[in-house]
Amino acid sequence: MKNTKGIILAGGSGTRLYPMTAVQSKQLQPVYDKPMIYYPLATLMLAGIKEILIISTPVDTPNIERLLGDGSQWGISLQYVVQPAPKGIAEAFVYGKEFIGNDQVCLILGDNLFYGKLDFLRNALENNVGGTIFGYRVTDPERYGVVEFDDHGNVRSIEEKPKHPKSNYAIPGIYVFSNEVVRIVPNQQPSVRGELEITDVQLEYLRRNELRVEIMGRGIAWLDTGTPESLLEASQFIHAIEKRQGTKIACLEEIALYEHYITKEQYLQHVQTLPKSSYREYCLSVANEI
Ligand code: G1P
Repeated sequence: MKNTKGIILAGGSGTRLYPMTAVQSKQLQPVYDKPMIYYPLATLMLAGIKEILIISTPVDTPNIERLLGDGSQWGISLQYVVQPAPKGIAEAFVYGKEFIGNDQVCLILGDNLFYGKLDFLRNALENNVGGTIFGYRVTDPERYGVVEFDDHGNVRSIEEKPKHPKSNYAIPGIYVFSNEVVRIVPNQQPSVRGELEITDVQLEYLRRNELRVEIMGRGIAWLDTGTPESLLEASQFIHAIEKRQGTKIACLEEIALYEHYITKEQYLQHVQTLPKSSYREYCLSVANEI
């Protein structure tokens, strides 16, 4: 399998969640029983990505680092880089250039939650040539990057938050790009809102005839956390499934164990250090089951 570096972009000021975000970043807000950033991290780990860079604001980066550490407890490597000012999602490839090295890269936004069978992502990592992005049917595409297809399923247009969307297919915040991305982004011009837009990166791959757009099917839930209501709904979704099944979604210890990133001994040693909580109880019960 091709080596893929992972980047979680956890920037932005989260103003739509004010006052919750007045002192704590959006990606540290709880989604039911875990901080939001656990979910995108779990997604990368489940896709087999073990080298991950987290990019955040000067204020939030130390807090995220306090929460997640160097990743060794989960058998992965976590590094951190500060984005001094929010100048666009594509800037992740400027700040991440050194970290990416000669590999391809999977970028996930720190507020994007995916639930379901993640084969689509593993396949994308394996088969990606230039860029791979996804299309997900939503009722409110104007809030997102939007991809339009022609009758043969080819991409006709990609637009960032269009007032009049040409399709119902939003582009979720998870992207796979070849190593070329580190050379594409520095040549990009900021948009009218002064940002390096991720949609412009996608358009460049499209111009080169190297963009694949995969439909993310009904089996995947892509949850939004941008507003107080959608954040609550995401929590309710996670709660409903966890309660019904008696499992936890995005339990990083469990994923590390099942993916063989750590041994059972390492797992138990780490779990013993966790504070007494339902999370710890769950981790202990997982160990008893295998
Ligand atoms: C960003 C991207 C957009 C994408 C969305 C997914 O928008 O610019 O293309 O569809 O993430 O969450 P934001 O939500 O950061 O405004």
